[in-house]
Amino acid sequence: SSAAAHIQRNPTYSVLNSNDVSYFKSVLGESSVVQDEDRVAVANVDWMGKYKGSSQLLLLPKSTTEVSKILSYCNSRRLAVVPQGGNTGLVGGSVPVHDEVIISLGGMNNIISFDNVNGILTCEAGCVLENLSSFVENKGFIMPLDLGAKGSCHIGGNISTNAGGLRFIRYGSLHGNVLGLEVVLANGTVLDMLTTLRKDNTGYDLKHLFIGSEGSLGVVTKVAILTPAKLPSTNVAFLSCNDYMSCQKLLLAAKRSLGEIVSAFEFMDRHCIDLAMKYLEGVQNPLPASPYNFYVLIETTGSDESYDKAKLEAFLLRSMEDGLVADGVIAQDISQASNFWRIREGISEASVKVGAVYKYDLSIPVEKLYDIVEEMRSRVGGMGEVLGYGHLGDGNLHLNILSSKYSDKILEQIEPFVYEWTSNQRGSISAEHGLGVMKAEKIHYSKSSEAVQLMGSIKKLLDPNSILNPYKVLPQSVL
Ligand code: FAD
Ligand code: MLT
Ligand code: ZN
Repeated sequence: SSAAAHIQRNPTYSVLNSNDVSYFKSVLGESSVVQDEDRVAVANVDWMGKYKGSSQLLLLPKSTTEVSKILSYCNSRRLAVVPQGGNTGLVGGSVPVHDEVIISLGGMNNIISFDNVNGILTCEAGCVLENLSSFVENKGFIMPLDLGAKGSCHIGGNISTNAGGLRFIRYGSLHGNVLGLEVVLANGTVLDMLTTLRKDNTGYDLKHLFIGSEGSLGVVTKVAILTPAKLPSTNVAFLSCNDYMSCQKLLLAAKRSLGEIVSAFEFMDRHCIDLAMKYLEGVQNPLPASPYNFYVLIETTGSDESYDKAKLEAFLLRSMEDGLVADGVIAQDISQASNFWRIREGISEASVKVGAVYKYDLSIPVEKLYDIVEEMRSRVGGMGEVLGYGHLGDGNLHLNILSSKYSDKILEQIEPFVYEWTSNQRGSISAEHGLGVMKAEKIHYSKSSEAVQLMGSIKKLLDPNSILNPYKVLPQSVL
């Protein structure tokens, strides 16, 4: 059964009928109105297999106009909808809770333009991130974000979750990189904010409301995004540390001595490596000599091949002499580098193979970041396996508890402890994955009641019938 099974259906929403389906067919055409059980079933369940809805209808619009007509109709009929991108979200935000109509953006995957003087890509929301990466790389640019789900996630989904990922340490948040958006509001109004300017202080910068709002304020249909230049030299090192304090010191040392060329600083504990070796096909442990407690992946990207390599080698040598690094290796070719990355990016894929996974995505000051992993391990005991990994350079811990199946007994050991602990550190209970249905009622652990009230007012202003992605993001009490 679904992890959101306890949530009551809001009875003020209409129930889909055959007239609705006929209307959608008249607007979108037969083949874009999907009722086939198998195809709808795939869209009803999330990537982890943890959240399942019972929608009867999947719509595949091909244009902004079609999205606008769908929303305008659903709003007047009071039919609830859930926008869906690549369906790789990890908080149950992208699937229906009950019978919401699923609006998939997958059919809107055209690249509109690329400005190769300024490095600005304009495209539709349903473009797959990896396809955009290949496209801009051919032109000598890169996407400012990268994540393990790149082969399936959409840029519209990335923007709607404000995805962080593996390049955040270098290129920062989508709040900085997204230059413009086109969004369709709940009543069908098309909001054109698709500018491509770096600087534009004319009134409120409304696009930011939609970045990270998880489909609760509008449907993102087009995107303009800044793409940094592709630099010629990339190096990847895979290092081990004996204790967490060394990882922390290594981060500071990397910032000081690698400086501007650092493009990733990721960490994972021993349990993650064991899991990756067990479940990921074709990967090799880069440091097989001995098990270490922690592993760090450092990537550098710069403009001078010999200088960058020498800098990384000197850094590695010094860190070993200083005792921060126990062992380490620098990738000698692309296949070795991609093996290092495959281990780090594959942790989520490996973890779902165990059965049940409880995922927490926390922002915590770096010096405290691993404490919660150890505390959790002692709370959960033999009931589950606890993993700690994540974007250490950004102060973002992924805390996963794995078990063969979901059980209330484990959950009681985890929640509310994990939220209270994080709140006490003034951390965030969602660093980059969003709140979705998993944490809609938990927002107060990270936001003041005044802030949550104001969010409720904004939601009511933009979506007065509350048709957009119900039961997600905000607590029912403010709606
Ligand atoms: P979906 O999962 O389809 O949707 C996510 C949310 O956005 C939902 O609430 C949905 O309603 C809404 N939405 C989707 N498209 C639109 C749209 N066009 N308009 C309005 N709302 C929309 N996240 C990170 O931040 N960093 C990572 O490193 C990272 N790595 C991941 C690795 C793996 C293997 C997986 C499975 C997930 C990972 N994620 C990561 C989670 C992350 O949120 C998603 O991968 C991605 O950003 C979601 O994109 P999507 O297209 O799949 O969106
Ligand atoms: C990651 O960094 O690997 C992602 O955010 C996905 C996850 O935590 O499972
Ligand atoms: Zn992550």
